[in-house]
Amino acid sequence: MGITILGTGHHVPGVPVTNDQLSAVMETSDEWIYPRTGIKQRHFVAEGEGVSDLALKASQRALANAGVDAEEVDFIVFATMTPEFIFPGAGGLLGAKLGIPRVPALDIRQQCAAMPFGMQVANGLVATGAAKTILLVGADAHAGFMPWEDWDVLYGESDRPVSQEAMERGTRHRGLAVLFGDGAAAMVLREGGEDRGFLGADLHTDGRLFDRIYIASGGFRSRPYFTPEMYEREEHIPKMQGRDLFKVAVTELSRSVRTVCEKCAVTLDDVDWFIAHQANDRINGAVRQALKLPESKVPSNIAKYGNTSAATIGLLLDELRRGGEVKEGQLICFLALGSGLNWGSVLMRL
Ligand code: ACO
Repeated sequence: MGITILGTGHHVPGVPVTNDQLSAVMETSDEWIYPRTGIKQRHFVAEGEGVSDLALKASQRALANAGVDAEEVDFIVFATMTPEFIFPGAGGLLGAKLGIPRVPALDIRQQCAAMPFGMQVANGLVATGAAKTILLVGADAHAGFMPWEDWDVLYGESDRPVSQEAMERGTRHRGLAVLFGDGAAAMVLREGGEDRGFLGADLHTDGRLFDRIYIASGGFRSRPYFTPEMYEREEHIPKMQGRDLFKVAVTELSRSVRTVCEKCAVTLDDVDWFIAHQANDRINGAVRQALKLPESKVPSNIAKYGNTSAATIGLLLDELRRGGEVKEGQLICFLALGSGLNWGSVLMRL
């Protein structure tokens, strides 16, 4: 039938940063953030910590959960929009850290939509015999583009006031900055056999919508590819058209879920869980209403982690599997939308 998920694991760094703590570095509040997003707190990597470090811990947990040795992994698919280096990608770094340095590692760049894309790629690799045991990882470390420098104030290690300039910079980017948090999640994937596995996917990319969320600078149209002026223009911080993204996400994700169910000849009622990317509880609430799904089938953990981009789906699935809620044999619909824009959904029987 295609690949299924044998094991899952996740890791988030450090201690949580609450919405109220953010108000030390920008004009914001829990009263604004929570009702609009469902987010209460998020985690950030420490200086010097990268996505392959987060991914290592998540992968070790996923392998232990699957009862699979790292040496059995014969392909890594690594999804991140915040790699350690512009090149090379993070997959090879993870392989080296896991002690499997010669295993092929493919980095994919579908941002928050990475998991449905990664699952389809992994399924294809297994179907063609190119791989048997795939480690699919989503990890993101957004701390590097946060619009503040006063990390000691954020963590309450100092009570000095931040400068007016710093407060104004934080406030200019608050609509974006309050949404994201850092984390990693991993899945061990193998052929499922007769009754379990990947049923189908509905995936889309529309590059006309690239500017709905993107980083304007640090790219190879300019010489050099990064300049002090770019930093002064604050172009290392993503630009986002939040309202537009919200509308596209609700419309396209609802359509994609219907399409994948039709393709695979299952009804919405047949699906046990809709495990959606955690960008905003209100987006998922609107998709749920559009599809008339019961609230209990569309779980959320955004309150604890914010939007961890490529990690959200794996992180939520890992919590639900370990909590005994998601069980072997259940039919899962994974759905996500992210920068690109990329979006889509996958149906898989666990
Ligand atoms: N705290 C306080 N006030 C704020 C904040 C904040 N954090 N952010 C914005 N505001 C203010 C704005 O300045 C504005 O004030 P004004 O009316 O005085 O000008 C007001 O709140 C409304 O701002 P909007 O941006 O219009 O707020 P909106 O209701 O659209 O909500 C939000 C913003 C939550 C970002 C919403 O648009 C959203 O969730 N969009 C989807 C974003 C998303 O999913 N991004 C991830 C994409 S996936 C990926 O691949 C990375």
